[in-house]
Amino acid sequence: MASKKIYLTGDRPTGRLHIGHYVGSLRRRVEIQNSGDFDKMFVFIADAQALTDNIDNPEKVRQNVIEVALDYLSVGLDPEKITIFIQSQVPELTELSFYFMDLVTVSRLQRNPTVKTEIAMRNFETSIPVGFFTYPISQAADITAFKATHIPVGEDQKPMIEQATEIVRKFNSIYGETLVEPDVVLPDNAACLRLPGTDGKAKMSKSLGNCIYLSDTAEELHKKVMSMYTDPLHINVADPGHVEGNCVFTYLDAFCKDSDFAEFWPDYSNLDELKDHYRRGGLGDVKCKKFLEKILNRELEPIRERRKQFEKDIPAVYEMLKKGCEEARAAAGATLEEVKRAMKINYFDDEALIREQSVKYSQQ
Ligand code: TRP
Repeated sequence: MASKKIYLTGDRPTGRLHIGHYVGSLRRRVEIQNSGDFDKMFVFIADAQALTDNIDNPEKVRQNVIEVALDYLSVGLDPEKITIFIQSQVPELTELSFYFMDLVTVSRLQRNPTVKTEIAMRNFETSIPVGFFTYPISQAADITAFKATHIPVGEDQKPMIEQATEIVRKFNSIYGETLVEPDVVLPDNAACLRLPGTDGKAKMSKSLGNCIYLSDTAEELHKKVMSMYTDPLHINVADPGHVEGNCVFTYLDAFCKDSDFAEFWPDYSNLDELKDHYRRGGLGDVKCKKFLEKILNRELEPIRERRKQFEKDIPAVYEMLKKGCEEARAAAGATLEEVKRAMKINYFDDEALIREQSVKYSQQ
């Protein structure tokens, strides 16, 4: 059972996806999808989770469901090879979450570092919605309903996978081996683990306005790259520069390949040489930014092109999602049946139970 490789991951539809999502997870998903080295792969739009802190803004979530679907298709996720679905359309996940709630304590949820940070960020103070507080449980249902073994996510999601693992262990220890423990799959490059915003702030976030979106035009990209945060101490070209904490170099770490030098900047043969020159002094920011812009366009142009194609037939995108939801329901439904059998809440398909009760009462 555990030898199967089942990938699963999702994104909240609260905005369009940006290049932080791309290097943190999307790029890897496409590589895995195209390698064929998996048994099943599920990628889903976590609209129900997005509603846990957007309950008064359903229109925003609804609009972004299609944005995220288009982002998925444009990076090259292919519904012929994997299953793409919408969380809320798979009610089995909600049902599973309800049973998992009995396996987790309030204090354990309070200790979840991601939930802690998010609660602080949202200024909920004492008015935390219960659904938001318990979303790690719902996320455990997302994962286990598909018996997922590999979860490609950003670093901030690690505590969620740990929480899911604990739920699996607890469930299996009480009800017998039923669910499968998941493993987190993190990006192997430190720059990709948490790509900073274009202003140098720790994370790309829509509210900070420091994101480069996958759907940005070449003009938008140009503006964003040219106004990127670099090294405040690198005032004159001749000054020695710092590459640490310098966005241009962090983005290069995430995107640059040696072949980009041959193609766009043959004065250097690799990123280390470029960094050495920048550190010594005598290399201007604008030159580095232009190089970065070319690399980002090299990566983003095919994504923009594919998006344009899919945008021409939106009904087909919804149809694809609908089919994905049906596939997902079938898979989650099979697990839910096993779960109910293990939990002894499968009254009507348990012939032994009915027989046993009949015997008991016929003897009275
Ligand atoms: N919490 C994830 C995010 O914010 C989205 C998500 C929901 C998810 N369920 C999941 C990711 C299950 C991986 C597995 O991006």
